[in-house]
Amino acid sequence: MLLENQTAIVTGAGRGIGKGIALALARAGASVAVTDINAAGAARTAEDIREAGGCAECFVADVTRSAEVNRLVSEVMAHFGRIDILVNVAGVVNNRPALELPEEEWDQVIAVNLKGVFLMSQRVGLEMAPRGYGRIINISSLSGKVGAPGQAAYCASKHGVLGLNKVLAIDLAPYGITVNAICPGMNATEMAQQVMAQRAAARGQTIEEVERGILSKTPLGRFGRPEDVAEVVLFFAGPGAAYVTGQEIDVDGGRRANLS
Ligand SMILES: NC(=O)c1ccc[n+]([C@@H]2O[C@H](COP(=O)([O-])OP(=O)(O)OC[C@H]3O[C@@H](n4cnc5c(N)ncnc54)[C@H](O)[C@@H]3O)[C@@H](O)[C@H]2O)c1
Repeated sequence: MLLENQTAIVTGAGRGIGKGIALALARAGASVAVTDINAAGAARTAEDIREAGGCAECFVADVTRSAEVNRLVSEVMAHFGRIDILVNVAGVVNNRPALELPEEEWDQVIAVNLKGVFLMSQRVGLEMAPRGYGRIINISSLSGKVGAPGQAAYCASKHGVLGLNKVLAIDLAPYGITVNAICPGMNATEMAQQVMAQRAAARGQTIEEVERGILSKTPLGRFGRPEDVAEVVLFFAGPGAAYVTGQEIDVDGGRRANLS
């Protein structure tokens, strides 16, 4: 199997895209440290992996707090003895016009989506560096490349992830660690439902009308699925991507390529 004898940590793996990535890594043979701030979600994902015949253990941590990140990585090292792959998925979204955005909401979105990626990458990078091998994969967003109404903090955080992605790729390359990013378009997860409900309320539309609007601009004509993102994670984590670092791949059904 592609990732046999490897260990992966996936943040935000309690549901949605993170869960899909954790399941796919386990199917590819990796042992998976499933982590999330939501203990019940993380436990369910780990259970689902074990039921499917894979190897997983769940860990609870808030990626915005360095003490929790330190504890998490120490626990994962104690349990699995090594970390080959880190996938930074944990994220939060908000939708509020920039002039109405409270400072605390700005801080929270930046803390989870951007600082969390830095803290996890630095701490896990310190474990990977002495072994001279590692794969870090960061989940940014289509909103990391273009603007979206009411998403000042979210777009800033996701653009920031792509800047951090490039610098980590440079700084960690001497240790044999590659760092790459994925920019998903709209996936049918709970986060996306929250965004579409807020957009619908702001525009006086139904959620169905907002969905139709997005799909009409998506050349492949459907929402993304966690499995679509997971396939690209497997590429970045696998041997075929040995000479690929500092890159960003859109997994958005062609949405960004379509100016209409
Ligand atoms: N759903 C989409 O359409 C979409 C599109 C582009 C990018 N993304 C990105 O993909 C990632 C996953 O999105 P999703 O749709 O699966 O979201 P989701 O809300 O369904 O899942 C996010 C997970 O992150 C966890 N989390 C939140 N704060 C955390 C913290 N401080 N510490 C640890 N875990 C925390 C949540 O508990 C949750 O399980 C996010 O980074 C998101 O920005 C999503």
